[in-house]
Amino acid sequence: MKEENIQKRMDELITILNQANYDYYVLDYSKITDQEYDKYLRELEELELLHPALVREDSPTKRVGGEVIDAFQKVEHTIPMLSLKDVFNESEILEFDRSIKKAGVHPTYYCELKIDGLSVSLHYEKGILTKAATRGNGVIGEDITHNVKTIKTVPLRLPEKIDIEVRGEIFMSKETLTRINQERARQNLPLLQNPRNAAAGSIRQLDSKVAAKRGLDTFIYHLPNPEDYGLRSHHEAIEFMKQLGFKTNPNNRLVGSIEEVMDYIQEKTELRPTLPYEIDGIVIKVDQIAAQQELGFTARTPKWAIAYKFPAEEVLTKLKDIIFTVGRTGQVTPNAVLEPVIVMGSTISRATLHNEDYVLEKDLMINDIVSIRKAGDVIPEVVEVKKERRTGKEIPFQMIHECPFCGTQLEKKKGQVDYFCLNDKCPARKVEGFIHFISRPAMNIDGFGARIMEDFYNFGFISSIPDIYHLERHREDLIRLEGYGEKSVDNLLEAIEKSKENSVERLIFGLGITHVGSKTAKVLASHFGTLDALMQASIEELTNIPDVGEIIAESLVSYFQKEENQKLIQELKDLGLNMQYLGIQMIADENFQGKSFVLTGTLSTMGRDEAKKIIESRGGKTVESVSKKTSCVIVGENPGSKYEKAKNLQIPIWSEKDFLSKIEN
Ligand code: IVH
Repeated sequence: MKEENIQKRMDELITILNQANYDYYVLDYSKITDQEYDKYLRELEELELLHPALVREDSPTKRVGGEVIDAFQKVEHTIPMLSLKDVFNESEILEFDRSIKKAGVHPTYYCELKIDGLSVSLHYEKGILTKAATRGNGVIGEDITHNVKTIKTVPLRLPEKIDIEVRGEIFMSKETLTRINQERARQNLPLLQNPRNAAAGSIRQLDSKVAAKRGLDTFIYHLPNPEDYGLRSHHEAIEFMKQLGFKTNPNNRLVGSIEEVMDYIQEKTELRPTLPYEIDGIVIKVDQIAAQQELGFTARTPKWAIAYKFPAEEVLTKLKDIIFTVGRTGQVTPNAVLEPVIVMGSTISRATLHNEDYVLEKDLMINDIVSIRKAGDVIPEVVEVKKERRTGKEIPFQMIHECPFCGTQLEKKKGQVDYFCLNDKCPARKVEGFIHFISRPAMNIDGFGARIMEDFYNFGFISSIPDIYHLERHREDLIRLEGYGEKSVDNLLEAIEKSKENSVERLIFGLGITHVGSKTAKVLASHFGTLDALMQASIEELTNIPDVGEIIAESLVSYFQKEENQKLIQELKDLGLNMQYLGIQMIADENFQGKSFVLTGTLSTMGRDEAKKIIESRGGKTVESVSKKTSCVIVGENPGSKYEKAKNLQIPIWSEKDFLSKIEN
């Protein structure tokens, strides 16, 4: 055969095979038999083998995998890949609708299933798939083209020779996950935990043969540049992408009102268990592109779309053990040690079991299969035991009666459920006390977490609160510890030093006096002005203060009467800790509350420290570097790279003038 004719035959075969692929995988309908498909594929493979120069980029032979890469290349998303704001109930959905109407938009909504997988961006040049990338941090993702080419529903060539980028979700069907896990169980390999992780793990393979075997699938749901194709609505964009051969979700629906959105949610919630793939919510998008542009974006999410997340997910796992922890007050808590499972995106391997009664009531035994529930950011809980799955190898729960850390006999007050270790010197209680002292609501020592405190205690660097302020004596030893290093040790020492300046309510709370919470500490500090004055106060004086009852008063007096506590406070005073109330009035300000700010450049009206104090006094915090998590960047004169980074990440930016106008209100 002449080369032209060979090329022609190869083109024919590619057209037939790609069409068959599309029919089968996207439309779920095949016009040719498996045998025919295989025959054509073999013919094409042979021709490609004999004429490697003629192999086309969009050849279906590429789908079987084979390309192996050394490492994942970085890909920059020219338009950042955003995520969606999550909402959890009807009132938040209605609030979304109100906020849109308030902006003057008359929305029609487009409802979609929220597919539980990982998002992907697909680039086509002149109709040929040239690049596929993960979302990464939204700005920089990873090149996964070699693996994406093995996904049958991703067209390698479009019917038109256009340049286009589309985005969607790569996912694994429930059935495929089960099949793969059955196989893995036979081979004694660890099981894939959920479809999302399974899909992500498959796509992060260097060898595309592995991905090819994983039966991945796609739904395409976003066109970043609809105007470039003359499209004025999202539903038109979806139809356009469908016409190009992409797999779009048949459940998508254009609706006219927020009431119809609610109906859609109801309907799809019912449909969810019967779907062949996992969904974790419903995505609601404003359909009109012009309206989307008008509404714009916040830091990381569009204002024209939200994700309604289904409520608490329950997952089964094995209760491997029940272990006990001892808190600062001596309270003993049983904890479930679980076979790690992913519930709503986080790996759960521990859950509190609260107390003996709780365990007995749920009738938990070690080795039981239990259901775990987690909703949003809420801490996970053990819901119930699956008694029908008992095998006889379960071990009954037994409450302990001695402290697992110091051996002291535990005590239980009459009518109460909790056991306590009452040994003041118990190492577990001591460490917990130190952790409480350094915690955010107490002395707020940046970068000093529970894990580090446990290390320092175990290494013998800290055995009392004043030792925290002597840590610099161990600077050299600390630097030599694995995982610490000079910079982090110096930052920590600096943060410790800085905490000496805290207003005294932080110290009062940090001492861990029974019944004295952070609010009470504040009341006491502002009332007495100094720790000395508080230490002198009588029960009567104390109970005269609104919000301070007898129990708190007695606890305070008895704490300050103890010689060891007096000694501790004197030591802290000698170390230079501030013992006065500095009276920073906190101002409730939703512009700052709970947000994190980065300052860059020089402010003309105030110093950096002053700006920080203002932010903190309004419930915000300042951090050094810009990340996705930054809420806002305040830019002064001659800003540095932080300004550029903020722009790239689309983080809101305030000028000094904006900042001043926010604090004026
Ligand atoms: S739209 C600007 N639609 O959910 C629009 N996302 O938190 C961006 N997802 O990162 C996304 N199904 O991975 C959209 N029908 C859908 C989706 C969907 C799943 C994922 C996607 C995104 C995350 C948002």
